[in-house]
Amino acid sequence: MESHIQAKYDHWIKLFICLLVVMIAQVHGVHITRLHSALAKGAACLDGSPPAYYYIKGFGEGSNNWLVQLEGGGWCGSDEWCIKISKSHNGSTKNKSDTMTYGQIFSQDKAINPDFYNWNIVIVSYCDGSSFMSNVVAIDPKTNLTRRGARIFNVVMEDLLAKGMKDADNAILAGGSAGGLATILHCDGFRTLIPNASRVKCLSDSGFFLHAKDLPGANIRENAFANTVKYHGLAKFLPASCTSKMNASWCMFPENLIRDIRTPLFLLESAFDVYQLSVKFIPACPTDVPTWKDCVSDFNVCTLTQLQTIKDFRAALIKTLREISNSPSIGMFVHSCPRHGHFYDSGGWNNLPSVGNKTIVNAIGDWFFDRGFVQEIDTQHDAPQHCSKKA
Ligand SMILES: *[C@@H]1O[C@H](CO)[C@@H](O)[C@H](O)[C@H]1NC(C)=O
Ligand SMILES: *[C@@H]1O[C@H](CO)[C@@H](O)[C@H](O)[C@H]1NC(C)=O
Ligand SMILES: *[C@@H]1O[C@H](CO)[C@@H](O)[C@H](O)[C@H]1NC(C)=O
Ligand SMILES: *[C@@H]1O[C@H](CO)[C@@H](O)[C@H](O)[C@H]1NC(C)=O
Ligand SMILES: *[C@@H]1O[C@H](CO)[C@@H](O)[C@H](O)[C@H]1NC(C)=O
Ligand SMILES: *[C@@H]1O[C@H](CO)[C@@H](O)[C@H](O)[C@H]1NC(C)=O
Repeated sequence: MESHIQAKYDHWIKLFICLLVVMIAQVHGVHITRLHSALAKGAACLDGSPPAYYYIKGFGEGSNNWLVQLEGGGWCGSDEWCIKISKSHNGSTKNKSDTMTYGQIFSQDKAINPDFYNWNIVIVSYCDGSSFMSNVVAIDPKTNLTRRGARIFNVVMEDLLAKGMKDADNAILAGGSAGGLATILHCDGFRTLIPNASRVKCLSDSGFFLHAKDLPGANIRENAFANTVKYHGLAKFLPASCTSKMNASWCMFPENLIRDIRTPLFLLESAFDVYQLSVKFIPACPTDVPTWKDCVSDFNVCTLTQLQTIKDFRAALIKTLREISNSPSIGMFVHSCPRHGHFYDSGGWNNLPSVGNKTIVNAIGDWFFDRGFVQEIDTQHDAPQHCSKKA
């Protein structure tokens, strides 16, 4: 009898916990906004689907503060590649979930995200293959692809301004990977949208794609951007401060752009960016054993020569960052844990060691709120560190 009651009791407890979990998930699930009306303005993803974003309303003292994050997802520079990505979430919003959950710098938990937890937070879907830069009027009937990333940026910003961003007090344009590059490219433009805001800054997460002319794979890096610039007709939209000095193909490399940006910018980078290392710094010898891919996915198995390539990447990255950061308005946090992107996958910014006594959370907050000069680079380690991603 007693165990029967106990079982019934357990059942109700389980049901209660289950309901609680569902309720919490609903509270924290962030809903998608699909801008169907934008299609009339010709703003659409590669496959013609509407621009979309996820929005978390700010509260309390954060009500007039906005953090707008541009998602990443690579670039495409040919019909073949753009058709391929137009069939995935990197080039379409068709399959985007109605709700998402976000943590870290998007978290509403003050303990995790002390400086931005109560801000309005917007995560803009990326689906144009051009870092929100393209604006090709004609749709090629051969492919039916729409190349209008810049229009997507514009319609989303118009919508957010109308939602209250026009009265923003503080604002950040942020982005990761291809979105981190988009952040650099759109930074000053974002500033001009909210001239009355007291503080507007830009935060590029893993968006510093290095040219490194003398390191392996220079032609891969140059061709990838050259093809993207050509395919999307970006030459006339890239900053004239750069295109007046060099071939527009080189004006997608942040090192050629950052000196001319007037709005304060933060660069969050791993000195061992796994995406750049794995697809953009491939050494010439494809017959290596272990393969380059094996080495980059597990640094323990790398040969000494491979490890040297990785160390050379780090040295070139740090040297280049130092060259472009003579202004205190440039913030920086460069650590030695292999990562690409810090805000999405659940452990992206967890367990990162402090650099110069600053955690990643302190570094970004201190820089944004001008609590100190923040250019932290880990100079202690010249090889990748083991940093687990677990919470
Ligand atoms: C989206 O792009 C990223 C970055 O290039 C890539 O790692 C990922 O595999 C892509 N996803 C799909 C579904 O194509
Ligand atoms: C949407 O999902 C279906 C089923 O998984 C898949 O076949 C299709 O390629 C996806 N389309 C896009 C645009 O993501
Ligand atoms: C492009 O769209 C048109 C109109 O919907 C359709 O007739 C045509 O078959 C499409 N072409 C390709 C290559 O998908
Ligand atoms: C900025 O503030 C001025 C003075 O209050 C106001 O006239 C102007 O419309 C504002 N600009 C924007 C873009 O909100
Ligand atoms: C710019 O670079 C691209 C790609 O390397 C090349 O095809 C093009 O001819 C160059 N343009 C000029 C004006 O040199
Ligand atoms: C870190 O803090 C310790 C103790 O406060 C101090 O001795 C050290 O100089 C600091 N290091 C840096 C890089 O600021």
